[in-house]
Amino acid sequence: MLSHGIIQAAYVIAALLFIFSLRGLSNQESAKSGNIYGMIGMAIALIAAVASIKGGLHWIIIAMVIGAAIGLYLAKKVEMTQMPELVALLHSFVGMAAVLVGFNSFLDAHTMITSNELTVHLVEIFVGIFIGAVTFSGSVVAFGKLNGRISSKPLSIPYKHYWNLAAIVVSVILMFTFIGVKTGAGALVSLLVMTIIALVFGFHLVASIGGADMPVVISMLNSYSGWAAAAAGFMLGNDLLIVTGALVGSSGAILSYIMCKAMNRSFISVIAGGFGSDGSSSSSSEEEQGEYREMQPAEVAQTLKEARSVIIVPGYGMAVAQAQGAVSNITEKLRGMGIEVRFGIHPVAGRLPGHMNVLLAEAKVPYDIVLEMDEINDDFPDTDVVWVIGANDTVNPAAEEDPNSPIAGMPVLEVWKAKTVIISKRSMNTGYAGVQNPLFFKENSYMLFGDAKDSVEKVLQNL
Ligand code: TAP
Repeated sequence: MLSHGIIQAAYVIAALLFIFSLRGLSNQESAKSGNIYGMIGMAIALIAAVASIKGGLHWIIIAMVIGAAIGLYLAKKVEMTQMPELVALLHSFVGMAAVLVGFNSFLDAHTMITSNELTVHLVEIFVGIFIGAVTFSGSVVAFGKLNGRISSKPLSIPYKHYWNLAAIVVSVILMFTFIGVKTGAGALVSLLVMTIIALVFGFHLVASIGGADMPVVISMLNSYSGWAAAAAGFMLGNDLLIVTGALVGSSGAILSYIMCKAMNRSFISVIAGGFGSDGSSSSSSEEEQGEYREMQPAEVAQTLKEARSVIIVPGYGMAVAQAQGAVSNITEKLRGMGIEVRFGIHPVAGRLPGHMNVLLAEAKVPYDIVLEMDEINDDFPDTDVVWVIGANDTVNPAAEEDPNSPIAGMPVLEVWKAKTVIISKRSMNTGYAGVQNPLFFKENSYMLFGDAKDSVEKVLQNL
């Protein structure tokens, strides 16, 4: 066992490395070193935590070996497109851990601390279990929605906001009962009843959120899981867990805020749950809206050759088809022919924040031609050709033109303002939000049907 001083020093170093890690992750060029800082910080934290344990080390080692084996297996197996599901599942573990730590601390509390400290400790336990249980059930629902096992349609029970409010009010009353009783069966029953309420509350909170708003929910749950970890840190008296939890909690909250702004949603209504579910029906749901025109790969190649400026807008379909390599090759070819090629990236394109940026970076597309939505949205009217590759919701004009659309108000890439728009996808099917896209029926739009990778490769051959 290491001395208390050494362990605290190790925790400070780990906390600093986590801060460097976040700093690094804020920029693509430094993201790799950010990850390395994070790994070293986590290794130091784990070694210090294990070294501070007084007995039962073999149990910890067995648990770590099992956990590490499952983690390695999942990390190797998971596809990039399944990443949000995995992240949602991992958040649920954090929530569950906070609940278990909470009950454990309660059963242990009276032997460990003086009665003066007891009230504070009991509040920590109560709040920790509440946040943990909400995070756990919310993340399980998010996991189910993302992999399609639970319908992505928002659950809408009557008076749902009142139910949520009632859950919070009853939990607060239970907290006062719990602190009043302090020990024994009475306290345990208050804790158990609150845990059940919190589990149902978390379930309802996420179940009532509509499909297209899931990215914000994932980052909200990320934030909740941070606060659950911080609460566990308070219960265990572990400073590093408090610092790390606060870092995750606040960075998740900031990311949620940025996403809300990108989707033109109010942050408060997200926290309250049930956003994206105002019940507005849409005239533009799933039915097709008129005639569309098609182009063959040879015609696409010809159109691109004649263009002076091209903007490529990738989306989830590019990730599914793993077309980023082919996209990178065609970019190089077009640039070699003197054509200006840039990329327009929507903040929620794909299925996780930064999804497109990661894929394009992996395929060695230069960073300086990959632009964010705000940087490129004004340039579409002066662009000859926009090539939408596997994107749908993020280029849907209904968001601006149809106030009844489920995605009304979400900022989108205004690709339809370019002279010619080519859309690569396999069919006329809708995207993640399940909304038909009027872009496909505009006069300057042409569909290039087929798997994105095949299509891009065929166009490349024709160039
Ligand atoms: P989506 O709207 O999901 O559309 C993707 C399109 O790609 C589909 O319409 C599909 O049409 C096509 N596609 C699928 N596989 C393909 C393949 N192999 N080859 C060619 N095309 C293929 O994509 P988006 O524009 O990127 O928007 C993202 C959506 O996901 C938004 O609604 C967003 O809110 C949501 N979301 C985002 C995140 C984050 S954080 N980014 C997380 C969860 C959800 P076909 O079936 O006809 O091919």
